[in-house]
Amino acid sequence: MSNERRPLIAGNWKMNKTNAEAAEFLDEFLPGAGDRPDVDVAICPPYTALRTVAERSAGTPLIVSAQNMHEREGGAFTGEVSAPMLREVGVQAVVLGHSERRQLFGETDVALQRKVPAALAAGLVPILCVGETEDEREAGETERKLRHQVQADLAEVEDDRLTQITIAYEPIWAIGTGNTATPEQAQDAIAFVRALLSDRSPAVAAGVRILYGGSVNAGNAAELLSQPDIDGALVGGASLDPGEFAAIIAAAPR
Ligand code: PGA
Repeated sequence: MSNERRPLIAGNWKMNKTNAEAAEFLDEFLPGAGDRPDVDVAICPPYTALRTVAERSAGTPLIVSAQNMHEREGGAFTGEVSAPMLREVGVQAVVLGHSERRQLFGETDVALQRKVPAALAAGLVPILCVGETEDEREAGETERKLRHQVQADLAEVEDDRLTQITIAYEPIWAIGTGNTATPEQAQDAIAFVRALLSDRSPAVAAGVRILYGGSVNAGNAAELLSQPDIDGALVGGASLDPGEFAAIIAAAPR
């Protein structure tokens, strides 16, 4: 695995944890968090807890990530938050195009086409989520969906910046359902995403970090993470508990 593909385990808290709860999590989690200096670890708290997590983890390697952002730097966009605002409170990365944003809040590929370069320009690492629904998988449409999302969402990113992006393959049928993709299904889809990136630049494709997400837990992480193209995990529910999240990090292959 090249340097650029250090494993990344990212915990997406979604709309969970107040500031007090975030602080409590970190008090338990951070003391052991240095055990795997070979693994990058990120936490994606809700906007309101970003500053708490950034301040409490200052001086540690923990990466603080937002769960979304607006593509513009400022303006009349009620309810939105911009990349410079995130940077100011110590955020280093941002999840973009999570399926919950796409399905529940109307996030479009057109918006993502602007958000990904805007995040890069602001110095944030975009964690771009892609993945198919259950119906799409059953209809044999998984590759078509992934091709469309990868091509559309990365259309405005220059080839030489692609390795600065992290992609998360998250089959929608596996998110929050307990129906984890099998290691083979995850490996195949992620290898396909990497092949799509090769169309842009073979050298770059080899260096892009691609995560799996969807019902990852301490019990299934080791097998998923041992697949050759899987460079880490985006973890939802199981990242809310410091002990379980630590166990997933410990499951990354050495
Ligand atoms: P889950 O969520 O681990 O709870 O399935 C994953 C995600 O939505 O990123």
